[in-house]
Order: sequence, then structure tokens, then C-alpha cells
Amino acid sequence: MNQDEKKATVAAAALDYIENGQIIGIGSGTTVHALINQLSRVKNKIEAVVSSSELTTKMIQEKDIRVIDLKESGPLPLYIDGADESTSKKQLVKGGGGALTREKIIANASKSFVCMIDDSKLVKVLGKFPLPIEVIGMAQSVVALELIKIGGRPVYRDGFKTDNGNIILDVYNLEISQPIALEEKINNIPGVVTNGLFALRPADHLLVSNGNNIELF
Ligand code: A5P
Repeated sequence: MNQDEKKATVAAAALDYIENGQIIGIGSGTTVHALINQLSRVKNKIEAVVSSSELTTKMIQEKDIRVIDLKESGPLPLYIDGADESTSKKQLVKGGGGALTREKIIANASKSFVCMIDDSKLVKVLGKFPLPIEVIGMAQSVVALELIKIGGRPVYRDGFKTDNGNIILDVYNLEISQPIALEEKINNIPGVVTNGLFALRPADHLLVSNGNNIELF
């Protein structure tokens, strides 16, 4: 099974978490695209979707499913999204697609967070995937200096602006043995909007496609 097939398989498994009449949150990225491609199968169960990115919004609307704002929906029963890395404790690195801030807002507002990955993303220690950080543009160099102080190597994501109009620094060389402490520390740097660690609010259900079946954590 190739990676695209693994994404389609794990996305199909995530559909089972959707219950009748729900407003659900949906994340961003290629695994989510595989989910959206199959969403018609459960369309009659979904009252509306709260979306984490402009691209997800467009793709959901193309399926004739209503997209509403989080301020209209309030807290959600379910959020489904992918990740760039996860531990078996369901602590994640996200933001490879740059939608981390809206993803974190919706994940935090949801009762249950279902995360879909393939087995290449299941790691013992987070940090091999560079940690994305959304930063207010004027703070780029000062935030970068703070990230160097904690042992990282920040790289400006060239030519990229988030849906919120900010920049992304991708931080290499971090071995993240204390994800909660690091998430809090980076959040406290003035100029940081969000960092891609999802450890304070990890996933509740991790679905891992290994090519043969779906492992549940
Ligand atoms: C988007 O900002 C990300 O958080 C994605 O959820 C994450 O990068 C996983 O993306 P893929 O499914 O494309 O690997």
C-alpha cells in the first residue's frame, strides 16, 4: 500500500466517529483531503462543518456541505485532522501545511479529537519533523533569536503567508522530550501566535494506518 492509499484507508476509518446531526471540526492537509473525498458517504449525518483553513472550506463547500464559523457553532463534539508526527501518547507536531493556529483553536474547542496518520509519522520522540511556528511578521528576527537560545535552528518559510496573514518559522534540531513544557515556553515568546506542538491538548483517538490495518491508540 502506498502513502496515498494509507491516507485514504485511515480517513475511511475516521468517518466512523461522525454521529448523526453533528457539527464537526475538520482540519487541513492531504490526509484531510482524503477524508473530504469520502465525506459524501456520511453527508446526511453532518449538520455543518467548522473549517481550519480556506482550502478546507472550499473543498467542503464543493461537496455541498455547509461551513459555519466557530463563533456561530460554539464548542464542538468532534474534530478530525491529520498530523506531521505523533507519539503513542497522542502528542503531536502539526502545521506542515501552515494551518496550525486555526487547527489548535478548533481542537481545543472540541470534546473529541480524532487524529489520522500513517505509520511513518508515529515516533518515539517528537522533533524530527521541523516544528512550525506562526509568528507576527515584525517579530521574525527576535523570535528566531529566542528559538536559537533553546537549541533550535529556525528557518523562514519562504513565500508563505498563513490564512491569518502571518509568517511561519520551521524549527529544526529540536529533540522534544518534554512536549508540554516546550509548548508553553514557545507560546510565551512575544510575537509567537501559535506553535505546532499539540501536547497541552493532545488527540483523544489516534488512528494509524500501517498498510494492513488501522492501529488505535
Ligand atoms: C496543516 O497545517 C497540518 O497541521 C496538517 O494537519 C499536517 O501537516 C498533516 O498534513 P498531511 O496530512 O498533508 O501530512
